[in-house]
Amino acid sequence: MPEGTDARYFDVCGSTNSLAVEDGARGEHGPTWFVAGRQENGRGRRGRDWTSYGGNLYCSYLFRPKAMLSDLAALPFLVALAVRDTLRALGCADASVQCKWPNDILVNGRKASGILIESSAAPGLRTDFVVIGIGINLRHFPMDAQFPATSVADETGREAETAAAFKILAHVLHERLAAWDPKNPAAVAAEWRKCAWGIGERREIRTADETLDGILIGLDDDGGLRLQLDDGSERRLYAGDVFPPAKPH
Ligand code: BTN
Repeated sequence: MPEGTDARYFDVCGSTNSLAVEDGARGEHGPTWFVAGRQENGRGRRGRDWTSYGGNLYCSYLFRPKAMLSDLAALPFLVALAVRDTLRALGCADASVQCKWPNDILVNGRKASGILIESSAAPGLRTDFVVIGIGINLRHFPMDAQFPATSVADETGREAETAAAFKILAHVLHERLAAWDPKNPAAVAAEWRKCAWGIGERREIRTADETLDGILIGLDDDGGLRLQLDDGSERRLYAGDVFPPAKPH
């Protein structure tokens, strides 16, 4: 583990994010990793389940950044870049690993990893604690996912060990967080844009209450996704999922 970081391993748990959030709420200072061999109640974004059989990596990082909650905009993109570094270190070709807004990492256009970040506010909208949950499909992936999925084993032809993958991830995330300046989200956004999936191309965006179709123009420094609609107007989105275009244009 990087110096000053704790790690706890569980053969089975409900959700490493839930364990980390509970300990954060109880006052554990961190930084602490919670790692599980499998999860019985793995949680994904927007209330979805995260299938968590043995063989993949399931881990959550509890820490207390000295920042306002409003300064965390770049964090999901920084974490996605750390996962991208990890997938490349595990043998995925550089150009094949792309970041899909807001929190997914694709290999050859298929989802290989997802990120679930949860945070808690202290008085004055300062950050109390943050939990970064990361799932990486090392050996298997769900066949029925909304967005097509893949695994490191399928992409590289090699079996990645969970302990080795976790060690790489813990190291690269530590390095990226140490270099992170919450007051300068532009640096992270610029790096994320270079390996983003679908920027400059037509995509479908599904939010909680609408489905939009347009050209992804880019990522704002505050994490908003810029979408140009066919009538020429522009929308900025802060929550949703991106898919290939549903209909040909
Ligand atoms: C998503 O793409 O919907 C996010 C998935 C996040 C899954 C990880 S696995 C480790 C951690 N524990 C959870 O319950 N969820 C996250």
